[in-house]
Amino acid sequence: MVRAFDDRPVDPAVVDRLLEHARHAPSAGFSQGWAFLVLIEPADRARFWDAVFPDGRASFAHPGLFSAGCLIVPLSHKQAYLDRYAEPDKGWADRDEARWPVPYWDVDTAMASMLVLLTAVDEGLGALFFGIFGAHVDAFRAAFGVPAAFSPIGAIAVGHRAPDVASPSLRRGRRPQEEVVHRGRW
Ligand SMILES: Cc1cc2nc3c(=O)[nH]c(=O)nc-3n(C[C@H](O)[C@H](O)[C@H](O)COP(=O)(O)O)c2cc1C
Repeated sequence: MVRAFDDRPVDPAVVDRLLEHARHAPSAGFSQGWAFLVLIEPADRARFWDAVFPDGRASFAHPGLFSAGCLIVPLSHKQAYLDRYAEPDKGWADRDEARWPVPYWDVDTAMASMLVLLTAVDEGLGALFFGIFGAHVDAFRAAFGVPAAFSPIGAIAVGHRAPDVASPSLRRGRRPQEEVVHRGRW
């Protein structure tokens, strides 16, 4: 994850490739219940930051984040999955959410987000996936006219890398394979 960018714009053809790859992510029942809000214009990006990060930007540890030339907000659409799985080949006509082992609408939107991140790296760019929290979600929806049925699972900043300080989270270190992998049985 990269949290500092310079002011250079992201090539529109690259933005298209980010989204083309996202569109090809796997999805449960091929539901494809996702949407992507793309913000390139400086005024749109400014409106985004005003909605999701209204206070404390001047003292934020990663001010170069706000220069990212492209913001992509992946949104998940639960109802698309409930409707898809109510079709005859799936048969969950009651649309009961308790049937779902995990929220596949969020899983699939996260898979699409990962493809955006990987494509950004392939294109020589940097990217950050970050959260949109609490009341900022409604502020974001209001700022961009996003319907209530669509939930931002986070946001992705993409741009040309600039020098940055590492996230303090990295001090935790990466957990070793022996700790996280269970071979044969738990
Ligand atoms: C679901 C999710 C939410 C995240 N939210 C934030 C965030 O709000 N702010 C942030 O700076 N980084 C965020 N990150 C990035 C993580 O901090 C980062 O992936 C982790 O520290 C490992 O660093 P690396 O991805 O550079 O290896 C998030 C990552 C994920 C997958």
